Amino acid sequence: MAAVEVRDLRKRYGSFLALDGVSLTAQTGQLVTLLGPSGCGKSTTLRCLAGFLDPDGGSISIDGSDILGVPANRRGFGVVFQNYALFPHMTVAGNIGYGLKLQKRPKTEMAERIADAMRLVRLQGLEDRYPRQISGGQQQRVALARALVLRPRLLLLDEPLANLDARLRDEVRWLIRDVQQESGITAFYVTHDQSEAMAMSDMVAVMKEGRVAQFATPREIYQKPVERYVADFTGEANFLSCTRVAPVAGGYDIEVAGAHLRVAGVPGIRDRAELLLRPEALSIAPDTGQALFQGRVEKLAFLGASQHCEVRLPDGGALKLAVQANRPVGVGDQAGIRIDSEHAWLMPEVRQ
Ligand SMILES: Nc1ncnc2c1ncn2[C@@H]1O[C@H](COP(=O)(O)OP(=O)(O)OP(=O)(O)O)[C@@H](O)[C@H]1O
Ligand SMILES: [Mg+2]
Repeated sequence: MAAVEVRDLRKRYGSFLALDGVSLTAQTGQLVTLLGPSGCGKSTTLRCLAGFLDPDGGSISIDGSDILGVPANRRGFGVVFQNYALFPHMTVAGNIGYGLKLQKRPKTEMAERIADAMRLVRLQGLEDRYPRQISGGQQQRVALARALVLRPRLLLLDEPLANLDARLRDEVRWLIRDVQQESGITAFYVTHDQSEAMAMSDMVAVMKEGRVAQFATPREIYQKPVERYVADFTGEANFLSCTRVAPVAGGYDIEVAGAHLRVAGVPGIRDRAELLLRPEALSIAPDTGQALFQGRVEKLAFLGASQHCEVRLPDGGALKLAVQANRPVGVGDQAGIRIDSEHAWLMPEVRQ
């Protein structure tokens, strides 16, 4: 049984349908990320989970029991939001212990639990500072500790890193994942940053206009997206239209740009399809005999470990690929492009 089961959640704001049947699950101890562009319904879903919003339809259960009738403060969830301000007149320890104080816990227990939470988020030594005396990353860690100190059944995080600069974001992101795994707590995490979602999550729900377009592991979302929208949102991608598609055991025989390939893909494609080629499915062929496409190198960017390369094809299309850093290739060069069909993935073509 899933620890958390969200089924067919619906929510309207006036006449606007913000959630149009969202279903997700989290197993105990998993971190599940809601990923998608602005306005797709991530926060609305999280607010329904938290109990700050009442959905118009659907159900949410925790360990098998329905929680929709339970008010937010009785759900026992920890919540960390982007703008969840700390109390400016209270010290770090005061902020973290606030919820325990409301629960009228004994002083010694409070002190122990505050110390534990501070250790977990690596804030030792800052007990007596005020929020204005600590950095943005530290403030966000206080917010996390404040949620964790109550030993929540479920942790809900809505873009908790959005106010931090890139470096801090990286640091706090790993800390959140460590703490979540160390404490074995089940968590929902909202972000519109795909690399964050990929790196941190056990499961990712890619959301699109109030629905879940795909719910799967980061690897599956990246390698086997169900549609172009998901592929586009989860990393660099090339798409090529296929002119012939024939199902065979375990995949499809396709024709793309005049060449024949056998590839895996979304089951049930009948006719119109497009081929997804992540940059790592493409390489520059050492000799033209191995090349499927010929093109002209149009852009090159040195990234350190590799070079980002864009090749313009004669039909006007372009392919993005990663090339080894030390490979002698220059803008304007003719290049033969090879496809590693094991890394290619066929998807149904979206009709515009
Ligand atoms: N109180 C409200 N009244 C009317 N519409 C709302 C309200 N809150 C949200 N919406 C709309 O519902 C949709 C979903 O909003 P939501 O906040 O869930 O998006 P989100 O995915 O979290 O986006 P972001 O990444 O920008 O935070 C948006 O189109 C938004 O404009
Ligand atoms: Mg939001």
